[in-house]
Amino acid sequence: MPSKELIKKLNEQIKHEFFSAHYYLAMAAFCSQRSLDGFANFFIAQAAEERFHAMKFFNFLADIGETPQITGFDDPRTDFSSLEEVFRLSLEHEQLVSKLIHQILELAQEEKHHPTVNFLQWFVEEQVEEEATMGKLLDEVKLTGDNTPGVLFLDRELAKREFSE
Ligand code: FEO
Repeated sequence: MPSKELIKKLNEQIKHEFFSAHYYLAMAAFCSQRSLDGFANFFIAQAAEERFHAMKFFNFLADIGETPQITGFDDPRTDFSSLEEVFRLSLEHEQLVSKLIHQILELAQEEKHHPTVNFLQWFVEEQVEEEATMGKLLDEVKLTGDNTPGVLFLDRELAKREFSE
């Protein structure tokens, strides 16, 4: 049987993942307002991915016989000043999510709750990918700086991104 603490952390992760979706939508709005529709598309797809992550936790809890707990969260930050800041915050956010996933995994390992340990392996890999994506885009945005053709090139590239599970 998983402990109450482990169930609590799994439930909290539903909230963190839905919060991530809101955070990325706020970033999409920032980009959209600046006519950077490709960057906006990237963050809208990212938000869809986060909702998919939230539902994975929801379904896992239901599958192990628990009732998923749906709770609210604070408004995401919206006062962004630049694309560089947006991607720096995105990377920091993904690093925080990785830390949260690792904490749940360590607890599940301590409790020898193998279903949770197994379930979280997908997220461990996913977080490596999430951090790498945000880190690479942060580097590219930094390299581009105020170079308008460079920003527009990146915008066109990011317009191609689609949500995939
Ligand atoms: Fe659900 Fe971007 O981590």
